[in-house]
Amino acid sequence: MNSNELRKHFLDFFESKGHRIVPSSSLLPTDPSVLFTTAGMQQFSPYLAGEKDVVNDFGNRHLASCQKCFRTDDIEEVGDDTHHTFFEMLGNWSIGQDESGYFKEGAIDYALEFLESIGLDKSRMHITVFGGNNVIPKDEEAIDLWKKRGINSIKECGFKDNFWGPVAETGPCGPCSEIHYDRGESFGCGRSDCGPNCDYCKRYVEIWNLVFMQYFKNKAGEYELLSQTNIDTGIGFERLLSILQGKNSAYETDLFSDVISKIGKGDKVACRIIADHIRGIVFLVDAGVIPSNTGQGYILRRLIRRTIRYGKMIELQGDFWVPLIKLTIEKYKDVYKEIERKKIYEIVKKEAEKFSLTLDRGLKIINSIKGDISGKEAFDIYQSYGFPLEMIKEELSKKNIKLNEDEFYDELKKHQELSRAGAEKKFGGGSNPYLHTATHLLHSALRKVLGESVRQMGSDINDERLRFDFSFERKLTPEEIKAVEDLVNLKIKEGLVLKKEVMPLSEALSSGALSFFKERYPEEVSVWTIYDKDSGEIFSKEICGGEHIDNVSKLESFKIIKEESSSRGVRRIKAICQGKYTI
Ligand code: ALA
Repeated sequence: MNSNELRKHFLDFFESKGHRIVPSSSLLPTDPSVLFTTAGMQQFSPYLAGEKDVVNDFGNRHLASCQKCFRTDDIEEVGDDTHHTFFEMLGNWSIGQDESGYFKEGAIDYALEFLESIGLDKSRMHITVFGGNNVIPKDEEAIDLWKKRGINSIKECGFKDNFWGPVAETGPCGPCSEIHYDRGESFGCGRSDCGPNCDYCKRYVEIWNLVFMQYFKNKAGEYELLSQTNIDTGIGFERLLSILQGKNSAYETDLFSDVISKIGKGDKVACRIIADHIRGIVFLVDAGVIPSNTGQGYILRRLIRRTIRYGKMIELQGDFWVPLIKLTIEKYKDVYKEIERKKIYEIVKKEAEKFSLTLDRGLKIINSIKGDISGKEAFDIYQSYGFPLEMIKEELSKKNIKLNEDEFYDELKKHQELSRAGAEKKFGGGSNPYLHTATHLLHSALRKVLGESVRQMGSDINDERLRFDFSFERKLTPEEIKAVEDLVNLKIKEGLVLKKEVMPLSEALSSGALSFFKERYPEEVSVWTIYDKDSGEIFSKEICGGEHIDNVSKLESFKIIKEESSSRGVRRIKAICQGKYTI
């Protein structure tokens, strides 16, 4: 089975069992407290928590998907057999109870039936279950169910390994059972206690996580019983594929083999890093991310730079990444039809050119260094040329020069404190309450008209106009400008009201308030909500240090007077209101 066949077989299997197949949600989650989508259940979170009605919105309480995911914790580990930045997760869900819903027994039976349908052998499956702690009891029910199905290798594990979630600070979670597959003695360490989660070898591979969602972790950190139980499962697609294809690693499967053989030569780890990052880049750009120095944009910038860097290391020439992107898109085009090749090339090309110049300039400076280098000098190279620290170290070590890293980090800290102070001045209090309020309306309208990938990149208000910078790749059409204006004017007409709440930053983020420059906010922030007093419907919710008016009707009317480019991938809007806001 190749990757496309496995993906399809999974979805067909669950469709034949009465599940609705739901397309993958975006890699960029709606919950601003998390950077990327890291699990299939994220798009179903409010349904799993019982806050929204799944049957109403999806027409079915049984769902299955193949979800695009991205994890940033392990970027440095990419290149070994198992780590990736972008990956896919297959999953099935049974949300809420009624006589048609299934819980532990149904989830276990489906999992076994599916795995056997792709030729995996039950006698090689080993299970881990939640062994209980002083708050949550041992999962006796699951143990019993596995035993009844003839699986006796059941290991009781603790909270860290066998209690899953929540993804964000609060949310649904529960004990889980993991299915580990024994790849055979030749993969093992030979120790008598070798088994699932072995510290010494990778003989047992975790292939499926079945989460029995029974709890909700609240803001106080307590686990409340959910009013409904749910099944949430996840298969690491890359892992299952490697097992099916009898490979050590997904890098050896058809998901990567074309790209890796196109790279053609060089260190194995470097080739894998390039192949992984190219795939990550394709999907991040496709999700609407553009390179920048913060948040999601920073991760994209890092992937592009690492790709160029490893490419240079194994002496790949010119725009070596072009055919690799092409092959990667080919691989996924039937699955994720929205992937836009041209846009991806343009973004990578611009960033790669910029980085190549940076590298050349930085290398010249480093090569001119004769004696030892201070942390401050290294920081200047890092700061002025965007030269990555790891590369500075690598270049210096070639010349046997040591870098004082403590000094480097002291400089970095000083610099961050200075920019934090600058940001507070820029985005904090002062300025004009009318235009601050209009800025929130505009921001929300832009996201509604152009899509959720629009992010605030900057804001400046004087007594005459507001200026708002936001991430967006191209010029807005006259129709789009009008749609944004109309939406803001509609809200002005509806007379939405504002409320301010002061809360800890973490609480603000988990409440769904939009945040920008996340790491620069103080620990306690003001959250401004613009909402309809009668229906309670929220139009905008943002963390903001400015002052605002109490009712948007005071703006009278809103007009965009200019739309232009601000910098690469960032547009700038200037707008005015008719209300008597000048002070
Ligand atoms: N949500 C579970 C996971 O990601 C299934 O492992």
